[in-house]
Amino acid sequence: MLKLVVREFSLSDLDRILEIERKSFRNPWSIRLFKFFSKNSPRGFLVAEVDGKVVGYVIAALEVKLDFRSLSIVKYGHILNLAVDEKYRRRGVASTLLQHILRNLRESGASKVYLEVRVSNLAAINLYSKFNFKVKRVLRAYYPDNEDAYLMSKDL
Ligand SMILES: CC(C)(COP(=O)(O)OP(=O)(O)OC[C@H]1O[C@@H](n2cnc3c(N)ncnc32)[C@H](O)[C@@H]1OP(=O)(O)O)[C@@H](O)C(=O)NCCC(=O)NCCS
Repeated sequence: MLKLVVREFSLSDLDRILEIERKSFRNPWSIRLFKFFSKNSPRGFLVAEVDGKVVGYVIAALEVKLDFRSLSIVKYGHILNLAVDEKYRRRGVASTLLQHILRNLRESGASKVYLEVRVSNLAAINLYSKFNFKVKRVLRAYYPDNEDAYLMSKDL
C-alpha cells in the first residue's frame, strides 16, 4: 500500500507538476494556467505525495449559476485537471485525490460536479464511473485535435 499524503498545492510543486502534465497529456496546460487556479481556488488544487515526492494532482473550480426556473443560486464543481505520474498509476492515487476534491466541493456548497473526458480515455472513464459519474452528453470535437468529449456528472 502506498503511503499517500494529500495537501493543497504550493508554488514549489510547479516544476514537478509540469513534468507529470507534459507526460500525461497531448495538449498540456501552461504554467500560467496552473498559477491562475492556485491563486483563484487554493482548496480546489490538491497534490498527492509519496515520501515527500509529488505523484499526482487534481484541480477543480466552483462555479456559481443562477437557475432561472427556481430563481436560486446553484453551485457546481467542475473537475478541470487530474493526472498521476506513470510510475504510480493503478495504485489508488487518482481515487484518493478524487475523494478529497469531492469532499472539498461538497463542503463549499456544490450540489453537482461535472467534467469532460476524451472518449478514448478508458482509464479515466473507468475511474469516474467507479465514482458514479454518468455520461450526460457527447461534446463533438471538444479538443484541439477534434476528438469528442463525454460530459460526465454526478450529484454530491
Ligand atoms: C486516469 C488516471 C488519472 C488514473 O490514475 P490512477 O492513480 O492510476 O487511478 P487509480 O489507481 O485510482 O484507479 C482507479 C480505477 O480507475 C480505473 N483505471 C485506472 N487506470 C486504468 C487503466 N489503465 N485501464 C482501465 N481502467 C483504469 C480502474 O477502474 C481503477 O480501479 P482498479 O485499479 O481497482 O481496477 C491516470 O491514468 C492518468 O494520469 N492518466 C493520464 C492523464 C489523464 O487522462 N487524466 C484524466 C483526464 S480527464
